[in-house]
Amino acid sequence: MMRLRPFSPTDISDVMKIVGSSMQEKYPASMFLELHNIWREGFFICEYFGSTVGLIVGTLSGFRTARILVIAVLEPHRCKGIGTALLNEFTNACGMKGLSNIELEVRKSNKGAIKFYEKHGYQVIDIIPHFYNDGEDGFKMLRNL
Ligand SMILES: CC(C)(COP(=O)(O)OP(=O)(O)OC[C@H]1O[C@@H](n2cnc3c(N)ncnc32)[C@H](O)[C@@H]1OP(=O)(O)O)[C@@H](O)C(=O)NCCC(=O)NCCS
Repeated sequence: MMRLRPFSPTDISDVMKIVGSSMQEKYPASMFLELHNIWREGFFICEYFGSTVGLIVGTLSGFRTARILVIAVLEPHRCKGIGTALLNEFTNACGMKGLSNIELEVRKSNKGAIKFYEKHGYQVIDIIPHFYNDGEDGFKMLRNL
């Protein structure tokens, strides 16, 4: 049973576990709490049978544009539709706010995530050389709402 809900600061330790096991980049807990303070409607959690298994968090990045900063699902729970549910919830929140675009960055080597985003209407619009700390290039992807 999947349940989507807004992030609460009491979720921070679960969020850090999911992010720590899913992403190559390191993010401090303070960043997530700060993002939540800035835009509460852009931060969702997914529970699966009562356990927290995924999250999506974004920010407002420009004129009528949102930027997805992190989407992650615990590895054993991937490919069950949880990432799609999180992305749809975030997209709906952007629509309700009257935004026109959603942008994001993804590692060039992250074929799974690129396929996931393309399936949801995102297109690569640019390459950002050495975007990541280890020097890997990023793709900038964009979807119009
Ligand atoms: C990207 C991510 C959030 C997708 O979540 P998910 O719950 O697995 O996504 P869904 O089940 O809703 O969708 C799965 C679809 O996405 C694509 N996909 C996701 N992961 C994939 C992978 N490793 N390889 C190939 N396709 C993949 C496929 O099209 C798949 O559909 P299919 O099963 O019909 O082929 C998840 O894989 C994840 O947490 N990855 C690690 C963190 C990450 O890379 N985040 C993005 C950083 S920019």
